[in-house]
Amino acid sequence: MSEAYVHGYHARENQRLKDQAGTLVELLHADTSYPPGSLVLEAGCGVGSQTVTLAQRSPAAQFTSIDVSADSVAQAKRASDAAGLTNVRFQRADIFALPFAPESFDHVFVCFVLEHLSHPSDALGVLKNMLKPGGSMTVIEGDHGSAYFHPDSSAARNAIQCLIELQRWAGGNALIGRQLYPLMVDAGLDTVRVSPRMVYADSSRPGMVDGFTRKTFTAMIEGVRESAIEAGITGPEDFDRGIRDLHRTAEADGVFCYTFFKGVGTKRP
Ligand SMILES: C[S@@+](CC[C@H](N)C(=O)[O-])C[C@H]1O[C@@H](n2cnc3c(N)ncnc32)[C@H](O)[C@@H]1O
Repeated sequence: MSEAYVHGYHARENQRLKDQAGTLVELLHADTSYPPGSLVLEAGCGVGSQTVTLAQRSPAAQFTSIDVSADSVAQAKRASDAAGLTNVRFQRADIFALPFAPESFDHVFVCFVLEHLSHPSDALGVLKNMLKPGGSMTVIEGDHGSAYFHPDSSAARNAIQCLIELQRWAGGNALIGRQLYPLMVDAGLDTVRVSPRMVYADSSRPGMVDGFTRKTFTAMIEGVRESAIEAGITGPEDFDRGIRDLHRTAEADGVFCYTFFKGVGTKRP
């Protein structure tokens, strides 16, 4: 993992991951389901925000969900138990030191993890190794350069840029969505198809405005306030103006757009 995981593991961030997953279920998961009996590795499950959806949508598949953070794995297990799931096994593990034999899984699922790794192509290589021949890999990533909004605001764009910079210094890449296709092809995956998934929020879609504009995206940028000020890349007033302007896009005449990228590839039989 990157030296400093830019979002941290505190309660507010865990809640943000849940809000994000809840709001984006249809957009990101509608076309993902795994056949009965198939073995699926979810790498970097975090607090289980995607796990619950994945396992509910494929009740007869068997999931192994891992994360490098023991606390997150424990929370993911609690979320899975609370949802009454019996088809998920949780384990603390590092993607770069997986305790599984090669070709152990029919499918691999990775969501919002590559953006935090300094060697995302190595991670894809490791995960491809876990796949049986003919198996599939699904990768979902965002790209913070895809955020645009009305009213436009340079202060808001500068606040977003703070997160992009901090993530880059921590070894990650907040603009990785646009690179998903070449990364998956370079990892040797076959039949790679990447589909952009655009979030569009205006006040005719209040669930999206609240769940995405406020509680997912703006909350994520707000979460790096102290680190950005400490790093000297912004001042409190400039940053807070950016956050106010992001909240402004959630008002009745505001609009917010963002694009996620979902890639699916297969391992040659
Ligand atoms: C932004 S969270 C995403 C969690 C979850 N996939 C979701 O979509 O809500 C990124 C997760 O990747 C995990 N992670 C980062 N590097 C990892 C590694 N080398 N091995 C396993 N997990 C890792 C972090 O601990 C964190 O829980």
